[in-house]
Amino acid sequence: MTILHIDSSINGENSASRAISRSIVDQLRAGDPQARVVTRDLVSEPLPHLTLDAFADTTVLDEFLAADTIVIGAPMYNFTLPTQLKSWLDRILIAGKTFRYTESGPEGLAGRKRVIVALARGGFYDQGSPASALEHLETYLTGVFNFIGIEPEFVAADGLNIGPEQREASISQALGETVRLAA
Ligand SMILES: Cc1cc2nc3c(=O)[nH]c(=O)nc-3n(C[C@H](O)[C@H](O)[C@H](O)COP(=O)(O)O)c2cc1C
Repeated sequence: MTILHIDSSINGENSASRAISRSIVDQLRAGDPQARVVTRDLVSEPLPHLTLDAFADTTVLDEFLAADTIVIGAPMYNFTLPTQLKSWLDRILIAGKTFRYTESGPEGLAGRKRVIVALARGGFYDQGSPASALEHLETYLTGVFNFIGIEPEFVAADGLNIGPEQREASISQALGETVRLAA
């Protein structure tokens, strides 16, 4: 198995999404000690905004296509994903490679992959909560990966900016949840 490990938090060692994505990768490796892990840190090595010329470079797409499982650390910034992660997605959603248009509508071509996303959000966005209409991270990533044929799995730490106790409880709950992903 090849695991592609992506991180996009600007918070370095204090990052919850990085801690959770690391734990997910550790669990996957425990289940498959032979697994190869390819790491792409979108903060220490940012991808430039997409340009027409950048479409010609398929390095990022090839790395994605070569992976069986993709683990993504995705913090919520301004109600959506970090721009660093968007630049990566801009290189993944490629017509003819990860999806195609057919007479009956778009069809995903990447369906054999497993995508696991470590979400970290400062607030709470559960359905019915006052802020739920501002949730454009999990909903966006779900839509994007569904579009290319993948049903992503999420491990979420929420309410991280409410206070230190909530933060600790949310992170430890999310880290505990990663154990079930080893299968
Ligand atoms: C630039 C920036 C913007 C943020 N915007 C939001 C936001 O819109 N909604 C929210 O719930 N939390 C927001 N937060 C809080 C982060 O989601 C929270 O701190 C989370 O822990 C970040 O993940 P990380 O620890 O992996 O960096 C923001 C944080 C930063 C640094």
